[in-house]
Amino acid sequence: MADMISTHAAAPTIIRRVDYRPPDWLVPDVTLDFDLDSALTRVRATLSVTRNGDHDRPLRLDGEGIVPLAVCVDGRPLAQDEWHLEAGALIIALPDGAHSVETLVELSPEGNSKLMGLYASGGLLCTQCEAEGFRRITFFPDRPDILSRYSVRMEADKARFPILLANGDPIEQGDLAEGRHWARWNDPFPKPCYLFALVAGDLACNADRFVTMSGREVQLGIWVREADLARTDHAMQALKNSMAWDERVYGREYDLDVFNIVAVADFNFGAMENKGLNIFNSRYILADPETATDIDYDGVEGVVAHEYFHNWSGNRVTCRDWFQLSLKEGFTVFRDQNFSADMGSHAVKRIEDVRILRAGQFPEDSGPLAHPVRPESYMEISNFYTATIYNKGAELIRMMALMLGAERFRAGTDLYFDRHDGQAATCEDFVLAMEEGGGIDLTQFRRWYEQAGTPHVRALISHDTVSQSVTLTLEQTMPPTPGQTDKQPMAIPLRTALFDPITGQHRGDELLMLTEDKQSFTFAGFPAAPILSINRGFSAPVIVETNRSQDDLAFLSAHDDDPFARYEAMQQLMVNVLVGRIAGHATDDAAVVDAVRNIITDPLLDPAFVAEVIRLPSEAYLGDQMRLVDPDAIHAARDALQQQIGTALEPLWRDIHARTKANAFSLSPAAKGARKLRNAALHYLVASDAQDGPAIAFAQFSEADNMTERQAALGALANGASAEREAALDIFYNRYAADALTLDKWFQTQAFALHPDTVELVARLSQHKDFTLANPNRVRSLFGAFAGNQWGFHHKSGKGYRLLADCIIALDRLNPQTAAKLVPPLGRWKRFEEGRAALMRAELQRILTQPGLSKDVTEQAGKSLE
Ligand code: PHE
Ligand code: ZN
Repeated sequence: MADMISTHAAAPTIIRRVDYRPPDWLVPDVTLDFDLDSALTRVRATLSVTRNGDHDRPLRLDGEGIVPLAVCVDGRPLAQDEWHLEAGALIIALPDGAHSVETLVELSPEGNSKLMGLYASGGLLCTQCEAEGFRRITFFPDRPDILSRYSVRMEADKARFPILLANGDPIEQGDLAEGRHWARWNDPFPKPCYLFALVAGDLACNADRFVTMSGREVQLGIWVREADLARTDHAMQALKNSMAWDERVYGREYDLDVFNIVAVADFNFGAMENKGLNIFNSRYILADPETATDIDYDGVEGVVAHEYFHNWSGNRVTCRDWFQLSLKEGFTVFRDQNFSADMGSHAVKRIEDVRILRAGQFPEDSGPLAHPVRPESYMEISNFYTATIYNKGAELIRMMALMLGAERFRAGTDLYFDRHDGQAATCEDFVLAMEEGGGIDLTQFRRWYEQAGTPHVRALISHDTVSQSVTLTLEQTMPPTPGQTDKQPMAIPLRTALFDPITGQHRGDELLMLTEDKQSFTFAGFPAAPILSINRGFSAPVIVETNRSQDDLAFLSAHDDDPFARYEAMQQLMVNVLVGRIAGHATDDAAVVDAVRNIITDPLLDPAFVAEVIRLPSEAYLGDQMRLVDPDAIHAARDALQQQIGTALEPLWRDIHARTKANAFSLSPAAKGARKLRNAALHYLVASDAQDGPAIAFAQFSEADNMTERQAALGALANGASAEREAALDIFYNRYAADALTLDKWFQTQAFALHPDTVELVARLSQHKDFTLANPNRVRSLFGAFAGNQWGFHHKSGKGYRLLADCIIALDRLNPQTAAKLVPPLGRWKRFEEGRAALMRAELQRILTQPGLSKDVTEQAGKSLE
């Protein structure tokens, strides 16, 4: 079969950005006819194709795992020798400039464990086509610069699949003999095939409406299993808020008469922006106080917004090729981040987003899988849905928005949307629109798209008493990354302020542009040496090193009026103490305790912000600060500091914990902030020398009327060895065993636990009757969480590495995309001492020697060994 031929191809091909060529054939119109069934689905596709340019190359239609049962051109069945297959693709020589090409294929949705193409999930049939899944449904030129108008007819058993949804607008439907029925949907907007979607199944609908700014009424539907209907209101509210926000902030209106969202339990990513029919991982739709934490609620809001915003940044203007992926993803993440900030707290949202960037993107940028925001090559595009494309990509847009200011940025995005509406565009098109619409020269800034790696900025401040001036010297360096050894200086926007240590004031925030390797800025009128606040608001995604003392940092943690800089000063204060302690130096821990006391006793601060500021840097973040990571020393140092802060401020933690106890659940910012601070206080209490820590945690666990407090208490208990630990885990399991999304939390909490036996526990959990490789959420909740638990995963026995590699090998046979996403933690071996490094490399090698290994895992494991 075609499938066998393609998977046995010798060396996997490398696709390069410079090789882009416009398509040979265009497909203005597509008609699809689905005869749907879980075991065997028939797909008849009729493509109108037109020759693009003057050439005599044949039509090439991509295919994967499918064979044509019939091929017709202009209504005439082709003989066997009039077409052939080449690496899965269907090749047909065509005489004229325009033809109609029809193919028939058969698929087995229930046999599709990759969750790409048409697959079955909990009795539903649904599709996932981005990036290259459409070729698993029908033969088609599967590339994003082919834009087609789709007309889709679906036919299925009415009892099992009463609801039939596709992109665009419903046109007609009807009943057929033998309990079957059909429906036709048309999407008037030309779209790339990665945005195609259909869903069939027994679904209930949360229906609502939205009136757009020009007065059009849009029917909104969130489709879930009947039992989940009560958990969809938050998603619906988020959708309506997103629609209004995009009109207000970007002037972008929704363009169809219906907008549907479907939640499915088995999904490789978070969600998918298919035109008019978003398909979601159910964890980003379903939320109620009993089962969802505040973080889950925010996740639902953010992802609903993200997918909705793609309607303009992704669908109306799409990507020319997959190297331009950040064009839609970076921009859309930037949009959803700002939306969420507007719905809640700007300060807290920025801190959270930077924490995510540092936890996910910085390690990627400093490791073997580092790649530019606009990559130059790939083997498997699924491997490039990365923190660099998404989160660093968003930071690039943020820097441009900062340099332009709100009004000129909006002029730039208006120009971008107007100029490229209905087109497949490039990152360069976006930058050009910013330059022309916003009136700025971004020549040097373009290097952010080209050069991988996180810039390091050294900022040294020196004061001259005679001239009463301050000189700030900035120096940038970029470490080499795979394939890029010689880096050019970047254009780095750094928001900066100089604080008078006596008055606690500064004279205004300045945007300094660092464009050279080394640059000095002099400021007059400083009789005394000021304190430097730099990269305020995290204005650039860089690592800043300064010569600021612990006293300076303590000052900023108490006085900086930029909330991010204030958080950052506290983090740096803590990092310095912890790194010093790990290196065996005497450290001034009292400075940290005092700074934390200052923050938690300030009555004017937002509790959610307080909870962020007093949070200890994670073990993984501490590891990132060290050339060689010593997981045991990091754990011991952090644990000891936590205990110290807990013990020294115990009465304050008790007071906060008691004071923040709510009477009834609410999702107001005040109530969310109180829960966040309460949980932070609980963690310090449990870490302190107080004997009743576990009892307090257990009481919170038992009494909570919401998952935010319940899961935090469970997490606090899971770190320790109390009797309450086992009791709480049992209660949690028994209460939620039937609810997959909540049971994921039970797995995840144990995999995250800072407990000496975590590695053994994860091994046992991987054999648990509720563990399955078939569901990506379950895999991520156990193995994804475990691989992010530095102390547990890097157990010096190497057991953690073996467990993860076993999982990758087994999962690769079912779902290569999700398997490949588990590889990167093993690729960090250069940062560990030789014992661990050798064990990690051995597992990568073992993975690579598996027969029939996917392209996905081959690329990730191969690069990780280099
Ligand atoms: N385009 C999706 C998003 O970010 C992500 C995705 C990629 C989903 C590939 C599924 C498959 O919104
Ligand atoms: Zn996206």
